[in-house]
Amino acid sequence: MTQPRVALTGIKPTGIPHIGNYLGAIRPALALAQSYEARFFIADYHALNSIHDPQRLSDLTYEVAATWIACGLDPARMLLYRQSDVPETFELASFLMAFTAKGHMNRAHAYKDAIAKNEAAGRDADAGINMGLYTYPVLMAADILLFDTDVVPVGRDQKQHVEICADIAQTINHAYGAELLVVPAPVTAAATDIVPGLDGRKMSKSYDNTIPLFATEPQLKKLIGRVVTDSRTVEEPKDPDTCNVFNLYRLFAAPERQEELATRYRAGGMGYGQAKAALFEEMNAGIAPLRERYQALIDDRAALDRHLTEGAERARGIAVATMHRLRQAAGIGALAKSG
Ligand code: TYM
Repeated sequence: MTQPRVALTGIKPTGIPHIGNYLGAIRPALALAQSYEARFFIADYHALNSIHDPQRLSDLTYEVAATWIACGLDPARMLLYRQSDVPETFELASFLMAFTAKGHMNRAHAYKDAIAKNEAAGRDADAGINMGLYTYPVLMAADILLFDTDVVPVGRDQKQHVEICADIAQTINHAYGAELLVVPAPVTAAATDIVPGLDGRKMSKSYDNTIPLFATEPQLKKLIGRVVTDSRTVEEPKDPDTCNVFNLYRLFAAPERQEELATRYRAGGMGYGQAKAALFEEMNAGIAPLRERYQALIDDRAALDRHLTEGAERARGIAVATMHRLRQAAGIGALAKSG
């Protein structure tokens, strides 16, 4: 268990995947799939914490599946499955509960943010917070540990969850005196682990500042028009490093193009409208091929169902083995015959 082997990550179907999901997790995950065994999934039970409209949850689940494949996931070579199709996940989550310090949950960012938001609004600290949100890191740990994961490519906001997962795995290995679970490590890419949104804050569905990955050309143009800039005139020199338009541009343009635009910023004589037009060109060129593939995939749900059914079967093969190993170690169900 010392050689890194498995890369796993999941996307929550709570909204249409955006540029932040793509650059922060999907693209790095697919790059890792060249050298690791890839296990990628749609975290639909995580979405259930906030989405209680069945049609919407189902539609978004297909959209995330189509996104994975459009971005390059090859279902024949890599594992693609839906979290809910692997019931061992929920058995493992119960198992992990018994080894998880409550303090970990209290310190988890997503929960702390929700509490802070309530307090700032003068509401009860726990208003609207369900146990799904509170115990979120445990379910996420189950997703990871069930599949013998070595590395978890994620954006920076998920790093702490993976660290909590590693801690739980170590606690269990220590308790039973055996390397029962692979201890995972988060993998983040410095340049893309916090992709900024239209207003410069982290791109996030909850800030309403996202650029959907498969926005049409006119939608994309309109969204880029909304990127917040300062009030410097065309003539004034500008600072690329503090500009939201440039910070998105650098995620898509080749280094020499970045240098070119940065020089124009510093020289003055270029308005933000021109910078936005340059951003549109680069972003659209990067996304257009994915957009076309996505459209064909989302229109064929029967094919997506076939991929997910096959993925579920393969995923369960791995999951059942992990649960068997843990049950044996813990004395749950039949113990291995001794002697
Ligand atoms: P989710 O669905 O919120 O986001 C999916 C991935 O996208 C990354 N991400 C970003 N990266 C850079 N910049 C941004 N602005 C940005 N916004 C989102 C997230 O960090 C994430 O990697 N809990 C997970 C889903 C999950 C999971 C797992 C991930 C469930 N079980 C097991 C890994 C392993 C989540 O809410 O991601």
